[in-house]
Amino acid sequence: MDFDQDDGSSNPSPNPRFDDVLALSRRHFLEGAAALTAATFLGGSRELFAQGAGLLGFEGVPASSEDQVFVPRGYRAPVLYSWGDPISSGPHWDPSPADPNTADDQAAQAGSEHDGMHYFPLPFGSNSSTRGLLCMNHESAFEVETIPGFMANITAEKVRRLQAAHGVSIIEVALDASGWAVVRPSALARRITAFTPMRISGPAAGDPALRTAADPTGTVVLGTINNCANGYTPWGTYLTCEENFDGYFAHPGSQPPAHMARYNVGSQGANSRYSWHLTDPRFNAATSPNEPNRFGWIVEIDPYDPNHTPVKRTALGRIKHENAAHTVAPDGRVVIYTGDDQVFEYIYKFVSRDPWNPSDRGANANLLDSGTLYVARFDADGSGQWLPLVFGQGGLDPAGGFQSQADVLIRTRQAADKVGATKMDRPEWVAVHPLTREVFVTLTNNTLRGTGSNPRTDAANPRATNVYGHIVRWREDGGNAAATSFVWNIFVLAGDPRNADATRRGNIRGDIFGSPDGIWVDPQGRLWIQTDISATTIGTSPDYQNIGNNQMLAADPATGEIRRFLTGPRGCELTGIAQTPDGRTMFVNIQHPGEGAANASTWPEGPGVGKSRSSTLAIRKDDGGIIGT
Ligand code: FEO
Ligand code: CA
Ligand code: CA
Repeated sequence: MDFDQDDGSSNPSPNPRFDDVLALSRRHFLEGAAALTAATFLGGSRELFAQGAGLLGFEGVPASSEDQVFVPRGYRAPVLYSWGDPISSGPHWDPSPADPNTADDQAAQAGSEHDGMHYFPLPFGSNSSTRGLLCMNHESAFEVETIPGFMANITAEKVRRLQAAHGVSIIEVALDASGWAVVRPSALARRITAFTPMRISGPAAGDPALRTAADPTGTVVLGTINNCANGYTPWGTYLTCEENFDGYFAHPGSQPPAHMARYNVGSQGANSRYSWHLTDPRFNAATSPNEPNRFGWIVEIDPYDPNHTPVKRTALGRIKHENAAHTVAPDGRVVIYTGDDQVFEYIYKFVSRDPWNPSDRGANANLLDSGTLYVARFDADGSGQWLPLVFGQGGLDPAGGFQSQADVLIRTRQAADKVGATKMDRPEWVAVHPLTREVFVTLTNNTLRGTGSNPRTDAANPRATNVYGHIVRWREDGGNAAATSFVWNIFVLAGDPRNADATRRGNIRGDIFGSPDGIWVDPQGRLWIQTDISATTIGTSPDYQNIGNNQMLAADPATGEIRRFLTGPRGCELTGIAQTPDGRTMFVNIQHPGEGAANASTWPEGPGVGKSRSSTLAIRKDDGGIIGT
């Protein structure tokens, strides 16, 4: 792992401590991996990981500005599920110009802006790679808001249709000789939307700050919004993560109070994204001031039970969550990592109080309600600390302005400020390597360091004008995910070696990219990277002129080599990644093709249908092999 051999000027953070422990750790992890394999991993993964080389077996694809998807020679990426497709036997989206589609139609169809996703085999407990449930997030409502004229003259029906485009899809999918298809009808198919009733649980449930006129108990909330990325649990439940909830709230007539402003709630004054507050008063934060406190959580859903009431787990903190990546500590406690995606925000981990129970699924039903939430501090010497966000510790007490553990969790950002965590360059997804237990996080970009009163560069965020982003990795001390200290280094600084500004060139070994967002390590150890270059940057920024559309790449964590695997259509974001247990199908989401004035798209149908649509791809190799080989 010789990532310090690149152009020294572009790698500001060699980490002797990380390297020192590496040889020992690698041997340790390989032994550990061998021990774990029989119970936890596919046979094929042990074989390939042991080979240690040739992890990236595909031919890379060039950067692209075309309005289509490209994958390597020998691969196919057909569309499986697009915005407006029925989840079961309901109505198909009707693309006629008169647009007869209703909110009720939308609530039985694929939502908008596909995002994080996971595949759950069917039946429960099986390892099926030919039949399963695909759970996916629908982050926001690009496809609905871009219907010509739709956002003019907002009505309650339009608001309800926008709300129905949000949330989660649970669809049944199956593979036969002709490929993957959605199973219709399916008794398990389900949409969860911005008005689905859900329960609030954990330490903040029932707190006065969560009570509203409609819910005096502070334990029942309607809906989940801005579902960005995701996670899942060892007991087979889905985790959907609420990200930029703030934008949905208006605060007309006055300035929002400080506790709202820390999350940007009310920053648009009398306006809100999609104007829901005009017909659904709970999105008016001036008159319903506790409603914003009921969003920004991680929501647990049992996909195998179509009647399950989703649960907002307050113990995991209230931030603008990206994803929720779990691992298990040696004693069986579950550890969940999550990033807060905004400039100068933090990286968190939750450690459950109790071990999970592999032999009794029901015993884990409330496991995520009790545990300790930590926030990360990255020190300049290459070590790091997990700082507990526990009422009564570290100044999180009445003298420090905190009244209870519920208060600490509802105001997670302020608690993290108080304990002195490290302000990062927009933390996006976290991924845990299933064999080495190394943890990776994408820091997507941040061009504000050192400006005004903003923090300056630090060892973990070394570039003042970080237009391309970077990936940090760490290893928990003792190989124990529940440890309170770790060692870290920078896995890669994204960039373009041809950039005229030497500080922006980065140190990528292989294909160039920028703005890393989605990240996942497959069971064989490939680190998959998905990018989210903003729609206003694609095709306009000189820094990105050689990078083209958003894309997905694979990295070898051991060598640092990075190779481009897929390029998306115009204006899209690449996000959401899941595999079948055999590794032979990879599901990937194309989100909001056509976003941005310079990125007109008619993908996937092409000219004729007249509307681009977020869609799920089901990627297979022609020879049926494992994806990435
Ligand atoms: Fe929804 Fe941070 O991306
Ligand atoms: Ca994202
Ligand atoms: Ca994003």
